[in-house]
Amino acid sequence: MNIQEPLQLLGGLSPKTFMQRHWQKKPLVIRQAIPGFAPLLDRAELLDLAAQEEVESRLVVQASAKGGTGWRFKHGPFARKALPPFKQAGWTLLVQGVDLHDERLHALMNQFRFVPDARLDDVMISYATDGGGVGPHFDSYDVFLLQAHGRRRWRIGRQKDLSLQPDMPLKILANFEPEEEFVLEPGDMLYLPPKYAHDGIADGECMTYSIGFRSPDRAELAQEILQRLAEQAVDELGPGLYRDPKQDAVDRSAAMPVALVDFAHAALQDALRDPKAIARAVGEYLSEPKANVWFDGGEPVVHGAVRLDRKTRMLYDADHVFINGESFNASGKDAQLMQTLANTRCLSAADVKRLSAGARSLMEDWCAVGWLHPDD
Ligand code: SIN
Ligand code: CO
Repeated sequence: MNIQEPLQLLGGLSPKTFMQRHWQKKPLVIRQAIPGFAPLLDRAELLDLAAQEEVESRLVVQASAKGGTGWRFKHGPFARKALPPFKQAGWTLLVQGVDLHDERLHALMNQFRFVPDARLDDVMISYATDGGGVGPHFDSYDVFLLQAHGRRRWRIGRQKDLSLQPDMPLKILANFEPEEEFVLEPGDMLYLPPKYAHDGIADGECMTYSIGFRSPDRAELAQEILQRLAEQAVDELGPGLYRDPKQDAVDRSAAMPVALVDFAHAALQDALRDPKAIARAVGEYLSEPKANVWFDGGEPVVHGAVRLDRKTRMLYDADHVFINGESFNASGKDAQLMQTLANTRCLSAADVKRLSAGARSLMEDWCAVGWLHPDD
């Protein structure tokens, strides 16, 4: 992707300018971001997804479509009969991670790869009957809201007061103060930075696609890394008992020997001695598929071109490649080719031939578990 080239998707801004001016900073309304856009899944196909165990879905029903006071909230899966009738106003069905289940939605998400893959999360589809919405709220992450079908009226505001109404099954702002209002038509898109207050209300039946992002929380990241380092430490440090041949006799028996605490410090320093260990742990963590993702095993033979399965998360840094939570050391030509695979999500037959025997055998393993497929 040429990040300097103006994109219709970003209202004529280049990805570079969009990131500088808007990303994490201010909203952008883009009329006809995708001209002539038509829904990639029809209502029946969406309901089929919402009925599946491995698909995360939620239902939000407003007690009164106009008043918006009472809210009911339920987690899926939903059999068709468990959903309210289409002629009932004011309900919304949210289906998460649709990019994992449909190639066209995966391709849509790929249009947003000017943001690093490590920050991309998923595509959610919301279906709403007239007047439906999830109430005025804010999200913790950036989002592109692409209108796919029908119209939605958005009200947004940059308020500081993010207090929530108490005792609600959903996050609803206590004091929503909208500053702008607009109606999005199919193909229009709204970008919102994190914590920007918004409320989208369906104007007739409508479907909206949310291209969502993830952003690790520092406590969560620290915990994950420490856990992984702890597991590695057990393997790498090996046994090594504390010894104290110079220990004096003590008259204050409960006092901790300073040398013992020093020993613990030194053990920890040894465990962290590999300067690449943290980068490796972060890469493994960020490339991990979501909990409900399963791969179907495939052909373990790599003949020609290959492509990543749409559920595969592949990242890399200067020393490693990361794929679906695993890390591999990579250098030289193999690293370069693996990086091409991660960036373009495919590798030509000619490039596959250039891989070392070791790297090719790794790819055969990935094909066998369904992370990678022959690209014919
Ligand atoms: C929706 O699409 O119904 C809600 C999306 C959002 O406001 O984040
Ligand atoms: Co939102």
